[in-house]
Amino acid sequence: MWLMVVSVPLLPAIVMVFNRYRVKITTLCHRALAWALRLARGRACVRSTHAFVFSKCTHGNADSVLETFDLYADTHPSLSIGPQRGEVLDGVLRRVQPRRVLELGTHCGYSSVRLLRLLPPAGRLLTVELDPLTAELGEEVILVAGFKHSQFQVLTSSSAEAIQTLRPFLEPERGTSAGLDLVLMDHDPQLYLPDLLALETEGLLNPAGCSVLLVDRTQRDKAFREILEHLRERQDRYCIKTQLHFMTEIFYQKEGTESLGK
Ligand SMILES: C[S@@+](CC[C@H](N)C(=O)[O-])C[C@H]1O[C@@H](n2cnc3c(N)ncnc32)[C@H](O)[C@@H]1O
Repeated sequence: MWLMVVSVPLLPAIVMVFNRYRVKITTLCHRALAWALRLARGRACVRSTHAFVFSKCTHGNADSVLETFDLYADTHPSLSIGPQRGEVLDGVLRRVQPRRVLELGTHCGYSSVRLLRLLPPAGRLLTVELDPLTAELGEEVILVAGFKHSQFQVLTSSSAEAIQTLRPFLEPERGTSAGLDLVLMDHDPQLYLPDLLALETEGLLNPAGCSVLLVDRTQRDKAFREILEHLRERQDRYCIKTQLHFMTEIFYQKEGTESLGK
């Protein structure tokens, strides 16, 4: 009640400010509403995917977890990379045999399970998810698939923040060089290029060679074309290796540029 009494004399000023910045305030409100709706819809999708996979898969069996995800995607909208892109990913994993893998965009854990099931025994996955609830449910799915915390870690933060904290996870082991051997980007196409450049600047990509897989869900929109144009100008370090089923593989190498394109 007292709040109403206090705000009455301020009403003319509030109306004046609103009139002056009406367009900006309306745009801001629309954006906030759209963001809240996207978040609510995204979380509903995550909860429903997680509940389906958790209740229908054989626990401890990674293949069963993936099959259950695919079954869910047959009848529901899904953000998982799915079996077609999954097979491209499997092919890259078999060829590269990476020890240190970074995934940006964990979501419900489909691609994390796909990555983990083909890693060598000493391999390790770091997977980054912005939304805390999604990260929690994604982590649970990875554990349900039978993987252990010694094999993976879910980092709950934005990709940009995570990249700044990765160094301690990537110290060289005996007989290996420091850095990531494989990066899967499936978070936000607008961030693919800045995040890739940040990984390079921080010296987190294995200088002897790192495959970077970009998932293109936007059917090669402007942002995606700009990434490829930028990389084409950096042919001393990057080469575009393959583009299959809206997955683009980029190969990074700092040393021995002659052998670019492992
Ligand atoms: C398309 S889904 C990833 C699907 C997942 N790779 C799979 O196949 O199961 C994208 C995920 O990236 C997360 N994300 C979006 N922007 C991000 C950012 N800047 N940093 C980390 N995660 C982000 C979203 O919350 C969402 O869960």
